[in-house]
Amino acid sequence: MAKKKSDRLPISMSRKFILNDDTQFAIKEAYKAARTNLVFSLASSERKIVVVTSCGPSEGKSTNCLNMAITMAETGASVLLIDCDMRKPVQHSLLRLDNKVGLSSVLGGIVHDISKAINREVRTHLDVLTSGPIPPNPAELISGSIMDQLLELASKHYDYVFIDTPPATVVTDALLLNSRTAGIMFIVKEGRTTHGEINEALEKARMTDGKVLGFLKVNCTGKGGKGGYGSYKYKYKYNYYKYSEYK
Ligand SMILES: Nc1ncnc2c1ncn2[C@@H]1O[C@H](COP(=O)(O)OP(=O)(O)OP(=O)(O)O)[C@@H](O)[C@H]1O
Ligand SMILES: [Mg+2]
Repeated sequence: MAKKKSDRLPISMSRKFILNDDTQFAIKEAYKAARTNLVFSLASSERKIVVVTSCGPSEGKSTNCLNMAITMAETGASVLLIDCDMRKPVQHSLLRLDNKVGLSSVLGGIVHDISKAINREVRTHLDVLTSGPIPPNPAELISGSIMDQLLELASKHYDYVFIDTPPATVVTDALLLNSRTAGIMFIVKEGRTTHGEINEALEKARMTDGKVLGFLKVNCTGKGGKGGYGSYKYKYKYNYYKYSEYK
């Protein structure tokens, strides 16, 4: 299979996709619509913990995980964002936070008091636990009992928790979290994510006994793109926004 061209931007340019006071009205509204659908999807879940992933790399997981967390916090709900991509973490760079201590420090037993690793009120009602230094064994750390305790604690203290993860078809990290959370929100990039990749990711998610909460379709043209989400039979859909609206 041909390798997809990377469209990764420098972090300084990536920051412009984070919701802020100058973000266009239509884009903010699209995220709000996605939030409404997500709240309904979470209604029956005891733990309002959402794992954000996608099939492949560079499909917008981190940016959209952060934007969904920001949009949820705007309702007045308390939100924790956890950067659980301990392979290619970016949340600390996007938010200009220190990353000497973070999730890996907690899971590795270096920091015992989780509250000392959390960045408070990064935005109103939004706390962030950055990845911490990159560990050699992310999947092992995610599977461990300290992660269970952290998820338990987080769901008690916060109304919603959003977890940024690596791509689901490449490594198992997101799938390892699935059955211990409310479920997965898949980022699907129109014109890039293929039906085959979506099916593969869904198959893997089903094997974990977890739930797929829905899809957030990005890079939309407004029509069902060939190979994108438009003609896909899965019933969930949050909303869409156009890349062109950011320019
Ligand atoms: N709305 C957008 N329009 C255009 N480019 C975007 C948009 N959102 C994110 N990007 C760019 O796409 C690239 C990938 O975004 P992001 O880091 O959120 O993806 P990812 O799926 O988390 O990647 P990875 O698999 O490496 O973790 C970044 O360079 C980012 O700046
Ligand atoms: Mg990412």
